[in-house]
Amino acid sequence: MATTAARLKKSEARLEDANAPPEAARFSVTPALFAKFQRLIYEESGIWLGDSKAALLCGRLSRRLRTLGIPTLDKYYQHVVNPAQSEERASMIDAITTNETRFFREPKHFEFLESHAIPRWRADGDRGLRSKNLRIWSAACSSGEEPYSLAMLLARHLPAEQGWKVSIFATDISTRILALALRGIYNISKSRDIPQLLLKDYMLKGIDEQKGQMKVMPEIRAMVDFQNLNLMRGSYPPAGHFDVIFCRNVLIYFDRESKQKVVQGLTRCLARNGLLFLGQAENLSGTNLPFRTLAPSVYTRMGENGGH
Ligand SMILES: C[S@@+](CC[C@H](N)C(=O)[O-])C[C@H]1O[C@@H](n2cnc3c(N)ncnc32)[C@H](O)[C@@H]1O
Repeated sequence: MATTAARLKKSEARLEDANAPPEAARFSVTPALFAKFQRLIYEESGIWLGDSKAALLCGRLSRRLRTLGIPTLDKYYQHVVNPAQSEERASMIDAITTNETRFFREPKHFEFLESHAIPRWRADGDRGLRSKNLRIWSAACSSGEEPYSLAMLLARHLPAEQGWKVSIFATDISTRILALALRGIYNISKSRDIPQLLLKDYMLKGIDEQKGQMKVMPEIRAMVDFQNLNLMRGSYPPAGHFDVIFCRNVLIYFDRESKQKVVQGLTRCLARNGLLFLGQAENLSGTNLPFRTLAPSVYTRMGENGGH
């Protein structure tokens, strides 16, 4: 039980928070300065902060300013725009990105894999019509829930004992979030998103000091290779490399031009007949690429002659 002193400390902290001016008010940004940040963030990441996002910019960058002891956003801009400050630009993008994610988020995508894709791969694999190596890319993987969900599902249905080798390449622009993903430790409350059987087989429940946490089992972690990759600038994996690409809930932050560029890059990396999954609020409209829709926000890459 918390001591009275600890309780007091906690309530003081809450009071301090409540009395503190909102971050956005502490640091202000003129329209001209906001436009400069808009451009810089766009050039670095492809993320376009709309004109209504000035308060968000101030709020999210306030911690960087405090950490560096820089008093104003104007001074911070002068600092971060310096070509020698590439690490600080990465920290700025870290602060700006939205990393919300969940295990088995948008469950219909996982149901699609389970009921359509996996049975076909298994049948083709058993008849020697395809290799038993399956390569998946979780582009913009955030703190790892998406690639680990894929790894758990595939470990169950395409087990190594039956000759399958499933590898998941998981990338994100944010090094901060990738460090969390790599640990593979989550609050136990997130277990409610994981199907019971998978939870039982592939997650370790913390005890003693780790109570309230769960950890992804080593065999699942070993299936996932986390790497830092900026979809706007990074060098993409080789052409035709992946059977499946999940690129979900990141295109929404891009403008039309960035979206086109990223989806073109992903298309090159996808094997013919490979599957592309976007977030359910995203689509390929306006991109004019060789895809056929299989289900909402699930696409397959067609062959050269438009067939598949
Ligand atoms: C909202 S999360 C989506 C996570 C996961 N795909 C999902 O659907 O649950 C968006 C992620 O995109 C990443 N991101 C934003 N811009 C990026 C870029 N240019 N390249 C790679 N990742 C980026 C962010 O760091 C963040 O982790």
